[in-house]
Amino acid sequence: MKQALYIDCCIRGRQSRTRKLAEAFFAVLPKTWRVTTVNLMLEDLRPLSGEFFARREALLQAGKTDDSRFDRARQLAEADLVVVAAPFWDMSFPSLLKIYIENVSVDGVTFRSTEEGFQGLCAAERCVFLTTRGAAYAPGDPMEQAVPYLRAIQKFFGFGELDCIAADGLDLDGADANALVADACARAAALAQTL
Ligand SMILES: Cc1cc2nc3c(=O)[nH]c(=O)nc-3n(C[C@H](O)[C@H](O)[C@H](O)COP(=O)(O)O)c2cc1C
Repeated sequence: MKQALYIDCCIRGRQSRTRKLAEAFFAVLPKTWRVTTVNLMLEDLRPLSGEFFARREALLQAGKTDDSRFDRARQLAEADLVVVAAPFWDMSFPSLLKIYIENVSVDGVTFRSTEEGFQGLCAAERCVFLTTRGAAYAPGDPMEQAVPYLRAIQKFFGFGELDCIAADGLDLDGADANALVADACARAAALAQTL
């Protein structure tokens, strides 16, 4: 069975509009996918610093990429489909997701260094990023730094494609947020049906 990994960074939980996009996506994702959820709010995520960082460096220098410390990295590397749901915060996504990425960026597991540069080691042919934003951002707007960063991560980890689905402008005066979320949910569901 094909493995889908759902990385849930919808910090407002049930109130999260971004999570609605993920629910619409998984409601119609064909049952040929086995879905595993990593709820970042329930993970004991720690930024790399001090002894926590030093221990990781020691493990990597010793080539111990099979240590349980790297379980989440191996899980990501093995997934056939990766779905990330995160709201737009402070011109990007919440730091919780960055800390997850920092911890799964493991040389020899999710990527490796070669003479030609980095080579992604993740199996996923598709990565899907689902988000909602308070304001509206045209593609390429320098104030929107979540999608450009995830495009770099797509290349770094070796995901085949990155699809981004966003509901924009939810918090603007006069916006019909429910309609905007419903439209994005429909786009998320349409994409899921193709997988
Ligand atoms: C801490 C925080 C930071 C935010 N930063 C931005 C921002 O920089 N730009 C923006 O357009 N909206 C920003 N917003 C608004 C959210 O992007 C918007 O309300 C989004 O729909 C929240 O998603 P959620 O319902 O899944 O939590 C921010 C909201 C919060 C709570």
